[in-house]
Amino acid sequence: MRYSAFVFDAYGTLFDVHAAVRRHAAEVGPDGQAISELWRIKQIEYSWVRTLMGSYLDFWQLTEQALDFAFAKYPSADPALKPKLLDAYRDLDCYPEVPAVLKALKAEGARVAILSNGSPAMLETAVRKAALDTVLDDVFSVDPIRRFKTDQSVYELVTTAWRLYPDAVSFQSSNRWDIAGATKFGFRTVWINRTNQPDEYMDHKPSVILPSLDRLAAST
Ligand code: LAC
Repeated sequence: MRYSAFVFDAYGTLFDVHAAVRRHAAEVGPDGQAISELWRIKQIEYSWVRTLMGSYLDFWQLTEQALDFAFAKYPSADPALKPKLLDAYRDLDCYPEVPAVLKALKAEGARVAILSNGSPAMLETAVRKAALDTVLDDVFSVDPIRRFKTDQSVYELVTTAWRLYPDAVSFQSSNRWDIAGATKFGFRTVWINRTNQPDEYMDHKPSVILPSLDRLAAST
């Protein structure tokens, strides 16, 4: 492997953000998929807007506010389900290939970490529930700098802590906008295009595109 430092986005890349609504699909009702998608879209929109205007709330608060918006938009779902959905979001399923891929990288001697918008508490719970705590060397949250991706200072958290140049780090994300930010910063980037989305941000292209994390080691 040419890289010995691998950094992963958390939500959407390691953890399936749609697992929360799916877990309670029968109770949420017919608009479940739309609610799940809007919940995610609003959560991310709030992170961009709050970083632009310098008004930080942590990612857990944004997750709650985004869910409130989704409930307001889709009255078919009972807002009393909010605590259940938030509990499910705290311990989201990880994608099936994740534990084996991370362990294989570790076995090759690589350093492995998360770099996420998530608050330290929500990341800690998700990582522990997915039993990834013994595999990860570090979990970097944006919380200390109170700015969200794609602010370039977020990606710098890794290079500062690990004392590496950006091009020594392989960064994996399923979020194309996150890949754009990380590419601009100078990371080697791997877009995990899990849902076969069209490409965008053409002036900030990923180094590699993969359908899942499965072939990551072979791509380096
Ligand atoms: C994260 C969001 C972007 O984990 O998914 O940083």
